[in-house]
Amino acid sequence: MAPAVPPAASRIAVVTGASSGIGAATARRLAEAGYRVVLTARRKDRIEVLAEELTAAGHSATAYPLDVTDRAAVDEFATAFRTVGVLVNNAGGALGADPVATGDPQDWRTMYETNVIGTLNLTQALLPKLDASGDGTVVVVSSTAGHATYEGGAGYVAAKHGAHVLAETLRLEIVGRPVRVIEIAPGMVRTEEFALTRFGGDADRAAKVYEGVAEPLTADDVADTITWAVTRPPHVNIDLLVVRPRAQASNTKVHREAR
Ligand SMILES: NC(=O)c1ccc[n+]([C@@H]2O[C@H](COP(=O)([O-])OP(=O)(O)OC[C@H]3O[C@@H](n4cnc5c(N)ncnc54)[C@H](OP(=O)(O)O)[C@@H]3O)[C@@H](O)[C@H]2O)c1
Repeated sequence: MAPAVPPAASRIAVVTGASSGIGAATARRLAEAGYRVVLTARRKDRIEVLAEELTAAGHSATAYPLDVTDRAAVDEFATAFRTVGVLVNNAGGALGADPVATGDPQDWRTMYETNVIGTLNLTQALLPKLDASGDGTVVVVSSTAGHATYEGGAGYVAAKHGAHVLAETLRLEIVGRPVRVIEIAPGMVRTEEFALTRFGGDADRAAKVYEGVAEPLTADDVADTITWAVTRPPHVNIDLLVVRPRAQASNTKVHREAR
């Protein structure tokens, strides 16, 4: 007989990149859904403030500073748990938008390290704990960049294709074990830091990404989608969910209103 699945209230959800944007919103949503959330990111102050806010609101939340690319630190982090119900691999992002001819190899390396190796590190370290929960879920926050390319996007697109392949392959390899693998691929999401980080803090260039777009997705839209997928019954695996704003038909076809 399959092991009984404990209710959300006794289950732990680890969220990486919980210090801003989609990760912070997902931590909020999962806490509201009854999970005991563990917030991780490099910026300790930000995850601590969010954990305090969630705890004050009556939820269970703890902060654990972690760089997902630091394998020794990730392994140490994993020893804190006997079981984990949900792992949301959200930490990541883009650096630069240069053509292949002039892109910075170091930016490419960093994007691969964060978006792919970071996801690999957490997934490998926590897979035994997800198994032990009797109903584990790995979420990979990829991107529509993991499914189609665009000019100037190759470094990020390559990394997100890597994250997509990791999710697809893991699902094949662990079928029969009590762990689901869900990929969420968002299109354009206006978060406070994503475009700013991509363009090295250039606020004007970052603002242009969303210029004229009526309603880009918000971090909470994506968090809602993640939480919906995670809270389906255990036998329901949402393999891949692509979510875009209505104004975006593809990575390169975006409706922008004249100003
Ligand atoms: N915004 C979009 O349009 C969009 C679209 C599709 C997919 N996505 C993906 O969605 C995810 C979240 O994006 P976002 O828009 O919420 O961006 P964001 O606000 O820039 O958040 C990125 C998060 O990743 C964390 N992070 C970065 N490097 C890390 C590392 N080495 N170790 C641990 N944490 C690290 C950051 O925290 P610290 O700096 O504190 O470590 C931050 O919390 C990313 O994977 C991104 O690629 C975004």
